[in-house]
Amino acid sequence: MQENNASRTTQLPANSEDLGVGAQGLDAVGSALADGAGESRSTDRQQTVLVIDFGSQYSRLIARRVRESKVYCELIPHTASWETVAHLNPAGVIMSGGPASVYEDDAPLAPEWVYDCGLPVLGICYGMQAMVHQLGGKVASSPKREYGHAMLQQNSDAGKLFVGLPTDMSVWMSHGDRVTELPAGFSALAFTDNSPVAVIGDDHGRLGIQFHPEVVHTPQGKEVIQNFLYIVCGCSQTWTPGNFVAETVEAVRKQVGDGRVICGLSGGVDSSVVAALIHKAIGDQLTCIFVNNGLLRHQEAEQVRETFERNLKIKLDYVDATEHFLGALKGVEDPEQKRKIIGGEFIEVFEEEASRLGQVDFLAQGTLYPDVIESKDSESKESAKIKTHHNVGGLPEHMRMELVEPLRYLFKDEVREVGIELGLPEEMVYRQPFPGPGLAIRIMGDITSEKLDTLRRADWIVMDEVRANGLYRELWQSFAVLTGSRSVGVTGDFRTYGHVIAIRAVASDDAMTADWARIPHKVLAKISNRITNEVPGVNRIVYDITSKPPGTIEWE
Ligand code: XMP
Repeated sequence: MQENNASRTTQLPANSEDLGVGAQGLDAVGSALADGAGESRSTDRQQTVLVIDFGSQYSRLIARRVRESKVYCELIPHTASWETVAHLNPAGVIMSGGPASVYEDDAPLAPEWVYDCGLPVLGICYGMQAMVHQLGGKVASSPKREYGHAMLQQNSDAGKLFVGLPTDMSVWMSHGDRVTELPAGFSALAFTDNSPVAVIGDDHGRLGIQFHPEVVHTPQGKEVIQNFLYIVCGCSQTWTPGNFVAETVEAVRKQVGDGRVICGLSGGVDSSVVAALIHKAIGDQLTCIFVNNGLLRHQEAEQVRETFERNLKIKLDYVDATEHFLGALKGVEDPEQKRKIIGGEFIEVFEEEASRLGQVDFLAQGTLYPDVIESKDSESKESAKIKTHHNVGGLPEHMRMELVEPLRYLFKDEVREVGIELGLPEEMVYRQPFPGPGLAIRIMGDITSEKLDTLRRADWIVMDEVRANGLYRELWQSFAVLTGSRSVGVTGDFRTYGHVIAIRAVASDDAMTADWARIPHKVLAKISNRITNEVPGVNRIVYDITSKPPGTIEWE
């Protein structure tokens, strides 16, 4: 039943959120930036710290750390011109690490404006080496690669970067090259056993550090970053959910005017936050379309309606297309076929609903910052196109509507914070990801109402016990699968021949990799006991102990 993930055509409601992530890991960022940061938030600007990406697997993490410090930042490519970033009101520049060596041909270097604009600059690892190289110092291959923990010792006065920090501190290193000669005007501020020059600085707020303050293995790294932001750059802590909501509400009003907006709601966090945010801005000019494809979990449709229609008073166009979807799926066993059919049907139903609403000018969608970064991959324009397309759920070309994408500059955890700020219920904001094709890819073989009913009951019990035992938030996903196998059992004096249900629970950070969760045996025992007692036709429960890879999270 397993297949190569890459071959899956992921079909979604109008948002890509149910992948649960920006779809790619940290290491995808490296080459993913290309043609400038020209398109950006355009309101009266708060300050921005620019993070130049030299291809480190940690670049995105640097951006996260800055945002967590309540300072807005954007990742930009090393080729970005000043014209494409000036409107961001830059307050400082951070240059990331990267896999290159500065003395290689074609090594990426910072644009000249970084050194001419008078802003503070913090070079991290390769970023520091690039700065040294470009300003006339020397970098050479180190006789010994330094990887892992090191003790950083400050020289007499290591300056603003280390305010409030001990003179000796543990840091995380990962480099082969090192600085051997400083550029004019710079002095060495700290060293480790293997790096005689591990921190440098000049009088213009240009600083370089050989270690990685962004990773958790540098315990005081956050303070180093914050010293740079608050003391060296003079940034204030204005990047908060409250400010974001106020600013975005303003921006949406400006963009939409008195136009009408539709938003495909899936019940997941991204589309829910988009809907709540836009509703706050323009009220009834927004209509949400919620398609029940008949493949949702027990009470899911009711819960979404309850939250949006009754509590938030958002206009909701609820379409029960169960018959439609189940009819189209009748007899279909192949997983890829199921996905294709569900995606196609979704577009058809959504389009029909949208056209019933009359003139609609805008389509709201939950594109997140990681999607934006990935779409900027110039070397793969084709894949960028596919992803953009995928983000609107593959809506046809002729449905020409302007996009409203208020979450375009947010990471997933920031979306959650904004959701809480907007008053969305915690169950919704911290909901585990649920795939667009729903229960169809958790029922092996063809889909019938009876099988859906069996799976829904079993799944409800899994969720109930997972929640009751306080495991819901720590698990990436937890659910039941109808395996398609039957087994012999015994109940009372009778032989049974019933369904086999598998329990799947995984821990993961981004769904790219996952480990099967070590759920306490007593919880598994309770789930097994309840399902075999409460769900007719099921006589055996197994626990899936496959990690990803080689397995996938879903069974199909
Ligand atoms: P896999 O099974 O590939 O899943 O390890 C990774 C994550 O993606 C979700 N998933 C999907 N989400 N449409 C979606 O919206 C899909 O077709 C789809 N397939 C998998 C899955 O639930 C997990 O979070």
